[in-house]
Amino acid sequence: MPDMPSVVLEVPPASMRTLSEADYIEQGRKDVAAIGELAPVQASTRVLDVGCAAGRLALPLLGVLDQASGGRYEGFDVRDDRIAWATERITASFPHFRFQHCNVYNQALNPQGTIAGSTFTFPYQSASFDLIVFYSVFTHLLEAEGRQYLAEAARCLSPNGRIYSTWYLWETSTAADIASHDVMWSFPYQWGGNRIQDREFPESAVAYYRDRLLDDINGVGLVVETERRGNWPRARSHGQDILVLRPSGG
Ligand SMILES: C[S@@+](CC[C@H](N)C(=O)[O-])C[C@H]1O[C@@H](n2cnc3c(N)ncnc32)[C@H](O)[C@@H]1O
Repeated sequence: MPDMPSVVLEVPPASMRTLSEADYIEQGRKDVAAIGELAPVQASTRVLDVGCAAGRLALPLLGVLDQASGGRYEGFDVRDDRIAWATERITASFPHFRFQHCNVYNQALNPQGTIAGSTFTFPYQSASFDLIVFYSVFTHLLEAEGRQYLAEAARCLSPNGRIYSTWYLWETSTAADIASHDVMWSFPYQWGGNRIQDREFPESAVAYYRDRLLDDINGVGLVVETERRGNWPRARSHGQDILVLRPSGG
């Protein structure tokens, strides 16, 4: 990934910051650099950031994606206030960075939503992105919605593109790992095809059975290119698992 030229980055209000409130910009930079180690990010990359919130990952990309080279960024999220903030503060100065609200129902985050995530069509053309990022998003989608989002990502991905995604992946060994460590997430409940943390708000933290997920990934024409296991079952950590996916013919 090229060096990032200095761009003045404005930080959203604390209530809109995702994943790291105190070191929001620095953590975003680190996460974009980590993405770039596994999936190419360059001036001409067309990026889709699913569940982008207020554009935490967009901010470090401002200095990388170059409009004249074809680079662009699209993000969408169920939180309309985050989208409004990012549109006003980022798109106004960087028109190749665009944000859209998707009116998908979510019990806590978008209770007025009128669209079921399990039927949602991403508002983009097929094969129009080189990199699709799901950073801590499948960890909030239940299986039917997750399957639809995977299928839509596969549709929107260019033939040489990559999907960078983070997950809580549940394997045979996971329960024993959790039982012998002090952890943040134990996913004690079975919920449809997922394991969840909280039955009152199932989407607050969602784990996927790894084998079943790999079948779903292959079922939409994708394969796993890289898998990195996070330390969430062995530490008090959010350290999620990472899957980089590519088209099976790519
Ligand atoms: C933990 S935050 C991560 C935000 C962002 N990806 C980042 O790295 O900072 C999860 C995000 O997913 C969004 N989200 C949850 N369900 C969604 C859905 N069905 N469609 C799009 N976004 C969703 C939430 O509103 C929230 O902004």
